[in-house]
Amino acid sequence: MENNKISRQLKKIAKIINSLSCFIMLLIIIYLLIRFDVFEEEYTAVEQESQDPYTANYNTAALDNSKANIEIKYGFELFQNTPKYIGPDNGKSELVYAGNNLSCTNCHIQAGTKPYSGLLIGIINRFPQFRGRENKIGTIEERINGCMERSMNGRILPTEGNEMKAFVSYLKWLSRFAPEDGKLEGVGYASINIPNRAVDLENGELIYNTKCSVCHGNEGKGVKFINSPVYQYPPLWGSDSFNNGAGMTRVITAAEFIKSNMPFGATFENPILTDEESYDVAGYISQQNRPQKNNLQNDFPDLTKKPVSTPYPPYSDNFSVQQHQMGPFQPIIDFYKRKYNIKKIK
Ligand code: HEC
Ligand code: HEC
Repeated sequence: MENNKISRQLKKIAKIINSLSCFIMLLIIIYLLIRFDVFEEEYTAVEQESQDPYTANYNTAALDNSKANIEIKYGFELFQNTPKYIGPDNGKSELVYAGNNLSCTNCHIQAGTKPYSGLLIGIINRFPQFRGRENKIGTIEERINGCMERSMNGRILPTEGNEMKAFVSYLKWLSRFAPEDGKLEGVGYASINIPNRAVDLENGELIYNTKCSVCHGNEGKGVKFINSPVYQYPPLWGSDSFNNGAGMTRVITAAEFIKSNMPFGATFENPILTDEESYDVAGYISQQNRPQKNNLQNDFPDLTKKPVSTPYPPYSDNFSVQQHQMGPFQPIIDFYKRKYNIKKIK
């Protein structure tokens, strides 16, 4: 009788312990699940990346360190801090490819993502492409090397080298949401109304001294970041600038860049200078000393394709070198229209 009672009591206790331990086990399991982030995805809604080419995330720091991403990040670094890796003083003679200390981002602003400053979003889809300077279809690697030999006053990067591969990976990543043909608003530069007169050098100098020299310096030499080979304000002329074969030495090209981008802060929507001011200051800059490129006579095998403000001869017309450098350009533009039926825009 007594025994029965005790055993019933014991069974009750065993049941309680059983369900209690089940409960504790459950708590432990829940704790472990939370501890090891099993519920994580439900709490931090995965942020949907914008697939619009203008507002997509172009911050390489957001990428993880997969092998492919490491190459993209190196491409971005090269683009942003070019002289640290391939500049004349980078400390590794075999990696001295650039002849000056400019960075790609000095002209292709915001690492190639600012419209109307040589926008590089979609660039991969725009290549291969016909190029007048060589009169043939060129690859993206050849186009990058065009800037290496001229804007960077340097030598070509080998196609299979780590640096060229990284540049191309970065540009591919910038192009990931671009339309198939790579054509976007903001590619290249916005055209301006070219004044129908020669450049006014005096006015150009006045504009330079009042609106540009605060950053670029009285002698156009620019200013570097402290203890760094990288420019905070890049040089516009002198031995550490782009050479005379670069697109930026053409007055029309430079005036278009300046109108939408300078003084720093200007945009296509909110320019600071007028077309006339941009034209005069571009003319003033292009008349200053800079490195000279060899073999420029070989550019533009078909001379009718040469932009009218290319500062170096030969030309397929009889206008003077001075007029090709400083205008007026309208008579030259009219000549090409009349004689070759070519509509010149730069
Ligand atoms: C001094 C200014 C300058 C610097 C520095 C510069 N570029 Fe350029 N780049 C230009 C100009 C000007 C163009 C032609 C833009 C135009 O006419 O639309 C151009 C065009 C290009 C293009 C073709 C763009 C297109 O839409 O077809 C690529 C690619 C390019 N540059 C890559 C680079 C890389 C990579 C670097 C650094 C190694 C670099 N550039 C440095 C001025 C510069
Ligand atoms: C507030 C400072 C500032 C002022 C003022 C300024 N710039 Fe710039 N400029 C810059 C910076 C910074 C860059 C490089 C952009 C970058 O790396 O993001 C640059 C780049 C340039 C470039 C292309 C790179 C090169 O080395 O050639 C040209 C051309 C240029 N500026 C011309 C001008 C002209 C012309 C003016 C006056 C109308 C002017 N800038 C006024 C800061 C300035």
